[in-house]
Amino acid sequence: MAHQFPPLKNDLLLRAARGEQVERTPIWIMRQAGRYLPEFHEIRKHHGFFEVCRTPELACALTLQPIDRYGSLLDASIIFSDILVIPQALGLEVKMVEGRGPVFTAPLETPADIARLHEKVDVGKELGYVYEAITLTRTKLEGRVPLLGFVGAPWTLMAYMIEGGGSKTLAKAKSWLWKYPEESHRLLQRITDVAVTFLVGQVKAGAQMLQVFDSWGGELGPDDFKQFSLPYIAQIAARVKEQLDIADIEVVPMTIFAKGSWYALEDLSSIGYDVVSLDWTISPKYARSVTKDRVCLQGNMDPTALYGPDEAIREIATKMVKDFGKDAKYIANLGHGILPTVNPDSLKVYLETVQQVSAEIRKQ
Ligand code: CP3
Repeated sequence: MAHQFPPLKNDLLLRAARGEQVERTPIWIMRQAGRYLPEFHEIRKHHGFFEVCRTPELACALTLQPIDRYGSLLDASIIFSDILVIPQALGLEVKMVEGRGPVFTAPLETPADIARLHEKVDVGKELGYVYEAITLTRTKLEGRVPLLGFVGAPWTLMAYMIEGGGSKTLAKAKSWLWKYPEESHRLLQRITDVAVTFLVGQVKAGAQMLQVFDSWGGELGPDDFKQFSLPYIAQIAARVKEQLDIADIEVVPMTIFAKGSWYALEDLSSIGYDVVSLDWTISPKYARSVTKDRVCLQGNMDPTALYGPDEAIREIATKMVKDFGKDAKYIANLGHGILPTVNPDSLKVYLETVQQVSAEIRKQ
């Protein structure tokens, strides 16, 4: 049985993603539910990070926090979860360590360790808590804004599973690519299969758009990205859309964010994604010239610009909106996640500026 949800009142994001005309640019922020919000700490003080992810009521409460705080200044919500729930579903233990970030108890060291992963993953059983959080949140949103689901890209997840956490060089993960290319491809394929099922399940649960995060894409050079990342993120878009279609479910727009992979923009805009999310190292005009009108672009203010005074934020945001142009195919965001020490009022200035300026340039 398909879920019945309240009707959507603000569909700017979905229209922009599909390339339709919009009255103004929709905007949302990567990591918008996070540590820069005092109300986030209020909940996190009492609950562990993955405990929150696994408790639908808490994940829902955190997802709604920025929507409640910023009201009509935000045009999307993103389900509170983490990309590392897939490695967990595959059988690896991940802990969130205060001041350090995610830490794997026993990362993969050699291909022999792949035997430690679950042969068959029952995604609905392992990650059903994310589906429940999505269904609950979609109901509680009451149609205010669309709800995004997401996964980590296979390369980024493989890198985390081998590095065991954050890393400056990714030396361990990248050495697998040269030492064990076949096993690397097999691992990437296994992650891809879980990611596809998980994304389809998220849409069935109520997600209205999907984003794939290849946060470590830019650690690969152009040829290696083409070999070890692109085929898998392409497969994800193709298979998710095909499976939704077969199941007679409306195909939702999909976004790819491959941080640092500026060299792959042309490919990224030609593999079935509706939206390509840009980091701040790419100029809007360059991105437009490379991707033509094949995709909607998303991004891309430098997250640290939010540390500037209000006038600087307004100036940078205004230029960004004008550079992306008034054609519909644009969703505003930051070039990466919002940083934990940003003042929430500075984000408000950014959101207001984008909404105002993007509406004004359409009247000119
Ligand atoms: O608001 C949202 O965007 C939704 C929730 C969300 C989180 N993580 C919550 C989170 C999303 C979409 C993610 C994605 C994610 N997680 C990525 C891809 C995006 C990116 O930033 O590149 C990555 C690489 C991760 C892995 C991860 N999770 C790291 C490296 C860390 C620690 C560093 C950091 O930025 O905090 C996390 C923890 C995490 N994920 C937090 C949140 C709110 C903070 C943890 C805490 O509460 O202690």
